[in-house]
Amino acid sequence: MHTDTLSPAGIHEPADTVTALGLVPAPARARTRDDAPFVLDAATTLSAGPGTGSTERWLRSTLGAAYGLPLAAGRAGGPGAIELLTDPGLEPEGYRLTAGATTGVRITGGGPAGVFLGAQTLRQLLGPGAFRRAPLAPGARPTVPAVGIEDAPRFAWRGFMLDVARHFTPKDDVLRHLDLLAAHKLNVFHFHLTDDQGWRVEIKRYPRLTETGAWRSRTKYGHRSSDLWDETPYGGFYTQDDIREIVAYAAERHIRVVPEIEIPGHSQAAIAAYPELGNTDVTDTAALTPWDRWGVSTHVLAPTEAVLRFYEGVFEEILALFPAEVSPFVHVGGDECPKDEWKESPAAQARIAELGVGDEDGLQSWFVRHFDRWLTARGRRLIGWDEILEGGLAEGAAVSSWRGYAGGVAAAEAGHDVVMCPVQQVYLDYRQDGGPDEPIPIGYVRTLEDVYRFEPVPPDLSQEAARHVLGTQGNAWTEVMHNRARVDYQVYPRLAALAEVAWSELPAPADRDFAAFATRMEAHYARLDALGVEYRPPGGPLPWQRRPGIGGHPLEGAPPVV
Ligand code: ACM
Repeated sequence: MHTDTLSPAGIHEPADTVTALGLVPAPARARTRDDAPFVLDAATTLSAGPGTGSTERWLRSTLGAAYGLPLAAGRAGGPGAIELLTDPGLEPEGYRLTAGATTGVRITGGGPAGVFLGAQTLRQLLGPGAFRRAPLAPGARPTVPAVGIEDAPRFAWRGFMLDVARHFTPKDDVLRHLDLLAAHKLNVFHFHLTDDQGWRVEIKRYPRLTETGAWRSRTKYGHRSSDLWDETPYGGFYTQDDIREIVAYAAERHIRVVPEIEIPGHSQAAIAAYPELGNTDVTDTAALTPWDRWGVSTHVLAPTEAVLRFYEGVFEEILALFPAEVSPFVHVGGDECPKDEWKESPAAQARIAELGVGDEDGLQSWFVRHFDRWLTARGRRLIGWDEILEGGLAEGAAVSSWRGYAGGVAAAEAGHDVVMCPVQQVYLDYRQDGGPDEPIPIGYVRTLEDVYRFEPVPPDLSQEAARHVLGTQGNAWTEVMHNRARVDYQVYPRLAALAEVAWSELPAPADRDFAAFATRMEAHYARLDALGVEYRPPGGPLPWQRRPGIGGHPLEGAPPVV
C-alpha cells in the first residue's frame, strides 16, 4: 500500500489521499479531515432529501443488505447520520461527499444522478465488505474514513457495450452488469441485441424473429478458423417484460440504455426468420438459418419499402420498450454491410437507379437516413457505427467511432456527436497479454495499461470538434466469450481503467500515473472479489482460467488470430 505523506500544512496531498483511499475511478479532489472515522451500525440513520429516492433505495438494498443494517429513516446530519441532498449549483452528475464521526456522512449531488454517484464512492470507502452480502462478523465495524471529496465526470457518455447476439447473456446477468457499471460510475449500457447469429428481443408483431431468429443449430467454438463445434442448439432472447425490467433497473441506477438493432447488414438471423427481408432474387433466403459461423454474413436486407415498413414496426416496439428518458439514443448498427448481394441483385440495382443514390454505398446510406428521419420525428437520436458516415450523415445523427479515431474525427469536425471506441484501444474481446496462457486469444494485445492510456479526444481535434466527443465506451463482442466467466475475464479489470479514462481528468496518455492506478486497483480487486467478478488478475490467468475452454470445451493449440 502507498505510504501516506503530509504536506507542510498538515493536509494530505490530494493525489496521495486518492491513492491511499483506493478509489476507482479517481475523484477530482479528495482530502482527509480532522475527525474520527464514521462508523456504520444498527443505529445509523438515513435521511433522503427531495430527488434522492433512488439512492436511498439503493443504499438500503445494497449497504443495508451487505451489513444486515436497517439504515432507518432519521434526522438530517450529525453523528450517526447519512444525509442525501441535491444542490443545483453542482453539475448534474457531480457530487460532494463529507464523512466523519462528528459530522456524519453527507452526500450532495448536483442532481439525483450525482447523489447516486456519490453513494458509489461511499461504498468504495467502506471497503470490500460493502460489496458482499454476508452478515457482519461479531464486533466488525464498517467504517468510512474522515474525508472530503469533490467530484464530477469528464465525459457525459461513459459506456459499455455488450454483444448478447453471438452469445446470450441471461437477464439476471444483464442486471449484474448494470450493477457493475454503476459501481464504476459508468452510465451508458449499449445493448447489442441483434446480429447474424441471433435476434434477442421479443417483437410482438413479428414473433418469428425470436421463434426462429433467436436459435441456431450449433455454435463454433473458438476462432473463426477453428474446427471445433458445439453441436448443442443454442439461443435465448429477452421477453418484453425482461426488457422492461432491465430498463427500469438501469434507470434506477441512472444508466442510459442504448438498444441496438442492426440494419442493413448483420441481419442474417432476421432474414432467416422472415425470408422476404432478404435479396430473394439472388439468394434462396428461405433456406437461411441464423448463422453458425463468426465473421460478417453476406446476407443483408433488401432495399425495399416493405423492409423499411417491417423495421419501422420493429422500432415502434423498441421505442415503447426503451422510453426516451432512458434511451434518448437508438443505435441502428450500420457497420460492415457487404455489398455482394446488392451488386448481383437486379432488384437492388433497379432500386439504386430509382432512388438516384448512385451505388451500393448510397443504398446503405438510404437505409440509415430513412431511420434517422424516422427516429428524429419521434424525438430520438440515431447513433450508428462509423460506416454511417459513408454517403453523408443526416443532421443530429451521432457516431460510434470503432475503426480507429478517423471516423470520429471526421464526424466531430462535421459537427456530429461522437462516442470514441476504437477497435485498437477498447475492444475488450481482444487479448490482454501476448503470453500463451490467454484463453482463446484474439486480436491485438491490449493490456490494462494500454486501456488506461487511451485518450478519447485525439490531439489533432479542433476545440470546437472536441466538444462533440460525448465520451467513450468499451465494447465486448462475445464470439469467444460463451459464458459469464469468460465475459468477466475479458471485461475486467480493463473496464475499470476505461471508467477512469471516462470519468477522471487525466493528464496526456504518456504522463498518466499507471503505477498509482495499479496501486488503487489493489483495493479495487478486493471489491471485485467480493462481487464475484472473475477478472483477469494482474499476474495473468489463474490456473482454472487458463484451462483450455472454460466451461467445458476442449481447445488446444489454436494460434492467436490478429
Ligand atoms: C464492429 O465492430 N463491427 C462495430
